[in-house]
Amino acid sequence: MSLSQIARAIKASPTLALNEKAAILREKGDPVIHLGGGEPKSRAPMDALLAAVNSLNTGEVRYTPADGIPELKKAIIRYTEEFYHRKVNPENVIASGGAKQSIMVAMQAILNPQEEIIFPAPYWVSYPDMAKLCGAIGVAALPEDGTFYPRLKDIEQRVGSYTRAVIINSPNNPSGAMYSEEFISDIVDFCEKKDLYLIMDDIYHRLIFDGKKPISAYDYTKKSIENSKIIIVNGVSKQYAMTGFRIGWAVGNKKVIEAMSNIQGHQTSGPSVLLQKAAAGALNGIQSGVESLRVTLENNRNVLIGQLRSFSGVKVHVPDGTFYCFADFSAYEKDSQKLSSFLIDKVMVLTVPGKEFGLDGYLRISYCGTIKDIIEGIERMKWALDPNSPNELYIGDRKLVRDWS
Ligand SMILES: Cc1ncc(COP(=O)(O)O)c(C=O)c1O
Repeated sequence: MSLSQIARAIKASPTLALNEKAAILREKGDPVIHLGGGEPKSRAPMDALLAAVNSLNTGEVRYTPADGIPELKKAIIRYTEEFYHRKVNPENVIASGGAKQSIMVAMQAILNPQEEIIFPAPYWVSYPDMAKLCGAIGVAALPEDGTFYPRLKDIEQRVGSYTRAVIINSPNNPSGAMYSEEFISDIVDFCEKKDLYLIMDDIYHRLIFDGKKPISAYDYTKKSIENSKIIIVNGVSKQYAMTGFRIGWAVGNKKVIEAMSNIQGHQTSGPSVLLQKAAAGALNGIQSGVESLRVTLENNRNVLIGQLRSFSGVKVHVPDGTFYCFADFSAYEKDSQKLSSFLIDKVMVLTVPGKEFGLDGYLRISYCGTIKDIIEGIERMKWALDPNSPNELYIGDRKLVRDWS
């Protein structure tokens, strides 16, 4: 069967594939611990649920404008004022089927085939494939100093005549690193000088620890919104634990937002009205859930870091935010895909191979689940990897016996 070049170039999302694997193993009755997930486990806010139910009860569930309903746009405008200190208009806002779709239509609106978009590595798994879907090229910029904190020169040296955009995700999936104000200021300034688009993927911007405050790229530009090439992307998935609602948004100049809306209009039309109402409900409703999620995640992070520090051979970088930790397991195995498969096969612990994020030898470990899963998951990993472990491990009444060295 013949498939298009694009179809042949794109692989399945490794994180979604892992979720499917976890579900299959659970169905078989295996005591799986999923440390590879990308979604908080708290309930969606009541205000979101009620808004969706009220909308459903009207029985009038219709198409919406391709760029979103006025009520949601209004809530996004307020959010932008509060967290980004910018007054924007409805024409500067598009609501999409998740932040993922906002990023995708932004790339489609600004990239021509063969053009390049740069992002620091490690990077979110979808960026390279999204660029490929535009016929464009994703260029990873691994910080030269071996940290997870890029410096301007890491980006600068990859810019060429084909570069059209930079995408920054801070705090970062998978490393949890939150880039400094100085770096964000430098990158805003640099992109303006080079006339590049700057997409800020801020999906985790409020899930940050140790007293840190969200950063707004708009604070570092003197340009008006209509003259700025900054595109801010955000959404309800992570901060409101609403991953399945599939609502995200982008804020940018009128022209780029109109182009994105035109593309989205042909792709999917506007997102479901029920889910837009739910997102507006979350944004307009009681906000305490975001802070309580943040506190839970900070506590989970501390527990995970404690567990990993007692794991000799593993090098850990303490995440500043998100719910991921990207730990260096290369002392045990340099091939992260092999290591991840080994851990699933031997002790039923799911982690995401670092290779998927552009850095082999690492595993991404999520701490958005329960403390019990974090502790038991790391204990199982230690048992599997430490050659001095006892020969047997009990998981409930199931006995595992080491048949490897
Ligand atoms: C860095 C990053 N950006 C964007 C997204 C997409 O979020 P959404 O669920 O709103 O599509 C994710 C989801 O995992 C992510 O990790």
